[in-house]
Amino acid sequence: MGTKIVGTGIALPEKVLTNFDLEKMVDTSDEWITTRTGIKERRIAEKETVTELATKASLQALQNAGINPKELDLIILATLTPEKRFPSTACLVQAKLGAQKVYSFDISAACSGFIYALDVADSFIKAGKAKRVLVIGAEKLSEAVDWTDRSTCVLFGDGAGAVVVEASQDSSDVLASVMYSEGSLEELLYADRCGYIRMKGRELFKFAVRAMEEACREVLNKAGVSPEEVSLLIPHQANVRIINALAEKLGLPQEKVYINIHKYGNTSAASIPIALHEAISEGRIKRGDLILLTAMGGGLTWGAMLLRY
Ligand code: UT7
Repeated sequence: MGTKIVGTGIALPEKVLTNFDLEKMVDTSDEWITTRTGIKERRIAEKETVTELATKASLQALQNAGINPKELDLIILATLTPEKRFPSTACLVQAKLGAQKVYSFDISAACSGFIYALDVADSFIKAGKAKRVLVIGAEKLSEAVDWTDRSTCVLFGDGAGAVVVEASQDSSDVLASVMYSEGSLEELLYADRCGYIRMKGRELFKFAVRAMEEACREVLNKAGVSPEEVSLLIPHQANVRIINALAEKLGLPQEKVYINIHKYGNTSAASIPIALHEAISEGRIKRGDLILLTAMGGGLTWGAMLLRY
């Protein structure tokens, strides 16, 4: 049994917060943010809840897939900003979609959450335990940001992305994956007692490049694919300098790397599904292409997945 991607969707809040807006809030500048991170603006959910963003992205993905929510048998939602301690945001989305008799749960793996979730969905399908799975990455990071801390508040944004995957007898879009964690490095990126994101940016930067490069190489080896054969790298969008360093290490030219961080900042678990949806919509991905996904985030968690779309 294989896993096919049959639909994608996204939801982004209306409000745009630019670097120039941030200049009025903290001691920063458009020049610093642009050169250090590649971010120009991000979306902020003033009215929307994380459940609403996740539901909107899911409805678009289901519509693209031509699948009714009632046909789903599993919903996995990755987030570090769940709406409530419990029930899970996956259950809240399930109710809003009107999905019935469906297995639903959240995954907590920070910025690696979406690839972790897609990997779990793939395992359920390959084990014959699910046929149609909705995989969501959704975040309202504006609630987890200390708006007086310039070293973090300029980095993050809100949004959601969703993917519907289906069991297929013929072939699988998921060729290989590796997922890792190292909790002893928690102090590099974590939520403090108030729930605010704290990070040691410089150390994390180095770890991110090394961990994602190793994970990418491992997944390519597993699938017997060389880096040159990759059609598009879709990395977690945390910093354009991390993305460029990773691409350089893997020997991938700019045109084979998907970047949208300038528009949305770091949306944690939502960043890869948003980028995947946009890359498909813009015609950057065609059926048959080899797509390499990779992420690193709080936990620490990291991993990579190779898709034959
Ligand atoms: O999504 C999960 C994974 N996340 C990551 O992997 C993030 C990894 N880290 C990074 O992306 C970068 O380390 C940051 C963007 C967070 C920071 O960039 P950096 O080039 O590593 O800067 P830095 O932390 O070394 O700070 C350099 C200077 C400091 O001033 P001094 O000590 O040199 O005087 C900071 O105080 O920049 C200062 N600074 C700022 N200045 C203006 C820090 N934040 C700002 C700011 N505006 N917003």
